[in-house]
Amino acid sequence: MSEDLVNKVALVTGGAAGIGRAICEQLAQQGASVAVVDINTEAGEECVAILRERGTKAEFIYCDVSSESDVAEMLTKTIRIFGRLDIACNNAAVSRGNGPIHEFTRDVFDQTLEMCLTNTWLCMKYEIEAMLAQGGGAIVNISSNASLRGQAFNTAYAAAKGGVNILTKSSAAEYAARGIRINAVSPGVIRTPGLEKYFQEQPKAEEQMNKVTPMRRLGEPAEIAQAVAFLLSERASFITGQLLSVDGGGAIRG
Ligand SMILES: NC(=O)c1ccc[n+]([C@@H]2O[C@H](COP(=O)([O-])OP(=O)(O)OC[C@H]3O[C@@H](n4cnc5c(N)ncnc54)[C@H](O)[C@@H]3O)[C@@H](O)[C@H]2O)c1
Repeated sequence: MSEDLVNKVALVTGGAAGIGRAICEQLAQQGASVAVVDINTEAGEECVAILRERGTKAEFIYCDVSSESDVAEMLTKTIRIFGRLDIACNNAAVSRGNGPIHEFTRDVFDQTLEMCLTNTWLCMKYEIEAMLAQGGGAIVNISSNASLRGQAFNTAYAAAKGGVNILTKSSAAEYAARGIRINAVSPGVIRTPGLEKYFQEQPKAEEQMNKVTPMRRLGEPAEIAQAVAFLLSERASFITGQLLSVDGGGAIRG
């Protein structure tokens, strides 16, 4: 077991389920204490119980990442409980639906931007403030391969995640000299509970998704978590402003 994150305090938004939960588990496995941040209290508490059973200091913090007062309070609680914040993963995001632009409503577009881009900026604002006060830290934002070449009928989500990429690069340049590294991980298609539900409704979808991935399989949440843990660790000490696709080759398919 790698112990790269011993004595580090971590925060993971959307940490209760899916990819976020795998990130919480991986950071804990590498020695970090973990603030599990989510709006799903039941799943968040369940995640914390699992981490504590394994000997990790962990706490569930309720926070709707689209609310500035919630985010500010979440950072205050993290510092109060753990004493500091060393590493953060901004993972929480919700896509409000697919469809052609001419049938999309302004409301749904705005909500998608809010839940995939603005929330990331908001969390970074308060995380960076805390990290500057203690002399440094590292952040990983979760993007999506939808941001790389665009995605028909998923334009709001793709555009919002494209925004996450450039937010990551711009802020990395802004804080590189002040001890804060900021990178992004771009998942391909990852087997999460939400996706499993979709496959039950659309039985042919899994086969189609496998076909468009050069490795001919879906990714597992733990595979995203490994990349996040690396970028948050000192092993990535000279890496900032990068977007790492973890996608079985999805980003380079011809
Ligand atoms: N699953 C995939 O195939 C895939 C592919 C590319 C990118 N991603 C990205 O990975 C990240 C995680 O995706 P996932 O599939 O694990 O999602 P998920 O829906 O399974 O889990 C998201 C978590 O975020 C929480 N959440 C939702 N709204 C919140 C809010 N307002 N405040 C705080 N927490 C909130 C949910 O309660 C849940 O625990 C997202 O940024 C997503 O865009 C996922």
